[in-house]
Amino acid sequence: ELRRCIVALGNMTEAELYFSYKGVYVPKLIHSPESFSFLENFPFRHDDILVVTYPKSGTTWSQEILPLIISDGDMTPVLTIPNWDRMPWLEEHRALKLNLEQRPSPRLFVTHCHYYMMPESFFKVKPKVIYIMRNPKDVFTSSYPFYAMASYMVNPGTKDEFLEKFLDGTVIFGSWFDHVKGWLGAKDQVNIMYISYEEMILDLRASITKISHFVGKSLTQEVTEKIADHCMFTNMKQNKMSNYSLVSSEILDQKKSEFLRKGVIGDWKNCLTEDQVARFDSVYKERMKDVNFKFIWDED
Ligand code: A3P
Repeated sequence: ELRRCIVALGNMTEAELYFSYKGVYVPKLIHSPESFSFLENFPFRHDDILVVTYPKSGTTWSQEILPLIISDGDMTPVLTIPNWDRMPWLEEHRALKLNLEQRPSPRLFVTHCHYYMMPESFFKVKPKVIYIMRNPKDVFTSSYPFYAMASYMVNPGTKDEFLEKFLDGTVIFGSWFDHVKGWLGAKDQVNIMYISYEEMILDLRASITKISHFVGKSLTQEVTEKIADHCMFTNMKQNKMSNYSLVSSEILDQKKSEFLRKGVIGDWKNCLTEDQVARFDSVYKERMKDVNFKFIWDED
């Protein structure tokens, strides 16, 4: 019976597994109209720290780094509290049950929302925002196995089929292009810092220092190194509070693909055919032509 249910889930469509919120798909298992209404009415504090990402751009990594910066390298929070509770998504069901108003400042949150989805209080209060972006070809490469291993996501089909959905934005949280363009456009309106997944891979210590300055913490070199060491892919992958091993395999089947999969730059080169790269590049060029920002991956 269980196998039949799982097979059935694997064949379910967007209409069955997702609902649409302000023009983008979100998975029903984790979100609801009530959870978005919670976000719409969420009272921000000016010292809240919000990490914003398009899915598969380094969200889980930030849920390790930020708590460690705030705790001055004390490992207790990351070794005892699951990532989704220590730094929750504001748009998910879970957020409603976490008594967030009782948390001491600075509170730490993540969101996958587009800029235009942010609620009134966000624009009034202007909390600190850290926007993490990643080469979209690697986001695609990371997303493809993820959509296959997560039972609440629509099966990605072939790579060509999924590529068209990804480029078109008919995936969860919509289009990567719209997400990045929206948040880059927020530069002069909100208190925001930009960082890339690639920068974090290339120099994690410098990235931790950059993030800690932005959030108003000054760490000793020793603490910075301790945090960087713990947050290296191979080390962080061992942390059961962060590697999603606490989630049942019926929901996330890590035998198909691990959540902390490879943690590298440029895996798209192993995953996309020449034709797929050409298709990606042509859409990228068209969609990003009016964007005036130097992305680290454009140097590739
Ligand atoms: P890969 O699938 O390319 O390995 P998110 O948390 O936003 O869903 O993003 C998941 C991606 O971030 C995965 O990419 C995952 O391996 C990577 N990641 C998570 N922790 C990391 C770390 N400590 N160092 C490098 N990459 C990490």
